[in-house]
Amino acid sequence: MGVMNVLGIETSCDETSVAVVVDGTKILSNIIASQADLHAKYGGVVPEVASRKHVENMIPTIQEALNTAHLGYGDIHAIAVTNRPGLLGALLTGVSAAKALAYVLKIPVICVNHLEGHVYSNILTEPSLVEAFPILILLVSGGHTQIIQMDGHGQYTILGKTRDDAAGEAFDKGARLMGLPYPGGPNVDKLAVGGNSKIVRFPRANLGDTLDFSFSGLKTSIRTFTAKDAGMTSMPDVAAGFQAAIVEVLVDKLRIASERTGISTLCIAGGVAANSGLQKALRTMCESQGLRLVIPPMELCTDNAAMIAAAGYYQLQNNLPDTLDFDTLANSPIS
Ligand code: KG4
Ligand code: ZN
Repeated sequence: MGVMNVLGIETSCDETSVAVVVDGTKILSNIIASQADLHAKYGGVVPEVASRKHVENMIPTIQEALNTAHLGYGDIHAIAVTNRPGLLGALLTGVSAAKALAYVLKIPVICVNHLEGHVYSNILTEPSLVEAFPILILLVSGGHTQIIQMDGHGQYTILGKTRDDAAGEAFDKGARLMGLPYPGGPNVDKLAVGGNSKIVRFPRANLGDTLDFSFSGLKTSIRTFTAKDAGMTSMPDVAAGFQAAIVEVLVDKLRIASERTGISTLCIAGGVAANSGLQKALRTMCESQGLRLVIPPMELCTDNAAMIAAAGYYQLQNNLPDTLDFDTLANSPIS
């Protein structure tokens, strides 16, 4: 078989993204039309606004992805599209475009789980990972926080997950309580760089012997803290203390997961994987434990279509394409 150009489409939340990836490894284009500014004035993603913007962005983004890749529609061999989990109206815009293109171009379409896409951002970054199974992935996004054991393509076991807020959600809600604009995660990260994390200590929920997480208590404690402190402590110090509380638990649980499973190849994925404090703490931990660590570049950590195209490519190696009647799902676990 020759090369396979997969067109990836991602519209599960507030980024309209289209990418062309060759053989699941080489990115020819990865266009991301972010709606963050549009939603910032509401302090979060407004689903109906997101759907409408996806409809507007869809065709121009597909066109730009093809232009950047120097390819035409006739050069695309398959389409991979996120159909779950996410905002239903938003997902539907990408899925409709994918089905229409697959029908007209008479090429296979494959539907991809968004979380699986995040996992494959690591394999896209480091294709040799497919020879390193089993691997552990810390998936930390706005909607999910999980430690996943991957034994092979499409073979996942969830070792731990959040019982309430996702790590990204904790960052965003905490940021809002600190008076920072949406999306809060990157803003906390920026402030924390100049702060001392030892000035304020926020609680860490360890949940005993499990690999599960809980971040809702942290939200309460930052609310209480900011009300009492009334601006006395410097913002960078508050941000650094808050970020450390999230980062420490994530790194600890991933280390314990590695110890318990004996798996020595670790990956991170999802928007929070872009956090500089988390990356630094993970590097230090992996160095001291002699573990291999893969961190995707920033644009592959946050939502993008290249990871969807890569996941779709590997799915097509092992499965038949999907028929045009597949659905969209708001909730869907990875396995
Ligand atoms: O993976 P993603 O782009 O979308 C979902 O699938 O949810 O993740 C978005 C989340 C948001 O909560 C955002 O605040 C967080 O990732 N995030 C960060 C950083 N960049 C994005 N959190 C902490 N530090 C960052 N640098
Ligand atoms: Zn995501």
